[in-house]
Amino acid sequence: MNTPGSSAVLRCSESQCLAGYPINERIYSCRECGGLLDVHYDFSLLPAASELKSIFLNRRVSPRNEDQSGVWRYRELLPFVADEKRIVSLREGATPIYSASRAADYCRLDLIHLKHQGMNPTGSFKDNGMTTGVTQACVLSATAVACASTGNTSASMAAYAARANLRAYVLIPAGQVAYGKLSQALEYGATVVEIEGSFDDAMRIVREIALETDLYLLNSINPFRLEGQKTIVVEMMEQLEWRVPDWIVLPGGNLGNTAAFGKALDELLRAGLIDRTPRLAVIQAEGASPFYSLFKSTDRSRLVPNPNASTLATAIRIGNPVSWKKALRSLDLSNGVVERVSEEEIADAKAVIGLDGIGCEPASAATVAGVKRLAASGVIRAGDSVVCVLTGNLMKDPNYTVGYHTGTLKLDDATETNPIPGRFSNRPVRVSADHQAIRTKLRL
Ligand code: F0G
Repeated sequence: MNTPGSSAVLRCSESQCLAGYPINERIYSCRECGGLLDVHYDFSLLPAASELKSIFLNRRVSPRNEDQSGVWRYRELLPFVADEKRIVSLREGATPIYSASRAADYCRLDLIHLKHQGMNPTGSFKDNGMTTGVTQACVLSATAVACASTGNTSASMAAYAARANLRAYVLIPAGQVAYGKLSQALEYGATVVEIEGSFDDAMRIVREIALETDLYLLNSINPFRLEGQKTIVVEMMEQLEWRVPDWIVLPGGNLGNTAAFGKALDELLRAGLIDRTPRLAVIQAEGASPFYSLFKSTDRSRLVPNPNASTLATAIRIGNPVSWKKALRSLDLSNGVVERVSEEEIADAKAVIGLDGIGCEPASAATVAGVKRLAASGVIRAGDSVVCVLTGNLMKDPNYTVGYHTGTLKLDDATETNPIPGRFSNRPVRVSADHQAIRTKLRL
């Protein structure tokens, strides 16, 4: 049958190469040039945009797992699975988009929307990509999966691997993963390997091991992960009634999500579902901002890694992002920008997102901090429509939040003497267990 699905191939993402490979070959990078791979389809075979929109919408009232999933509800746009019975789903995606007035005031904008990927089953956007990645692992008859992680990927992979009965191996930098995330990977039964090194070390080693063994690699260099993460943008557009915002703002770490968002925008344009692209704004933490440096450099042909990447937003503590070339492609397509923000800016922005009754983990708050900067410098204008993607749930990293509110949050406990001041800190009050003492203290 002639459908976009039957046209699916793996294709090198390097525009001067574009070598092709069969869709079910277990391969992570191009044999010709080493470039990362894309899942590529012939979207001229898709139904018309209006028909697609009503197919997506009608599935909302269906009780089936793959219709309720905010990833597979859009399966015409990720048609690499021949047999829908293979789908491994926890009903991921289908996450809310909120308007956030305090965050908008804070950034001096009329309006901000927050698309909360932290409302996923394991509390981060990784679930959007893990449902597709683990489904492909099953299609390939893998028995074990692996990843390097700053925490969320490991939590998500462990959960989906458990659902699919696969063994899971995660490599994490010892002592640098927030407890919410570590506890999930342990609870879902993954083998957790804490290495005495950085995320970048873990990433390099797990890539090497995956080439030598039958472990199926589920980091975002795996192109099937990015297929699922594309749907974050699709769902956002549908929630905005297909009115394209001026900006989509996301944190940048390993840059898989930036790669996925660019691919989504390209394909939505091709499918006629949108008629222009929003601009992408990628925000990095100052201490871990190699992509920002690349963006500012006159030579964008080579990213200079930062072996000492450091930030309290541990999810994005990454000095050598694997998807930087694909991420550049996303910026080119969307006339995108990269900004960086300080630890203090991230921490205060996170508290502001909390005051809107929403909350998120530190890396996610880099978005609002970045919007504030970009608005102050006139790149984003007051009337622009802006959607920030909150990538992880507030409960992922309670130590950070309590540290901020109690005035003990420090970049490095050993070398730093001054904690982050916390403009919005909200200290608990301690009082004796006495009715009158509490009323007096609270002036009630
Ligand atoms: N936000 C959160 C909460 C994350 O966990 C990550 C990445 C990012 C942003 C950055 O996304 O890598 O696609 O640019 N976390 C990975 C992990 C690295 O292992 O959980 P990216």
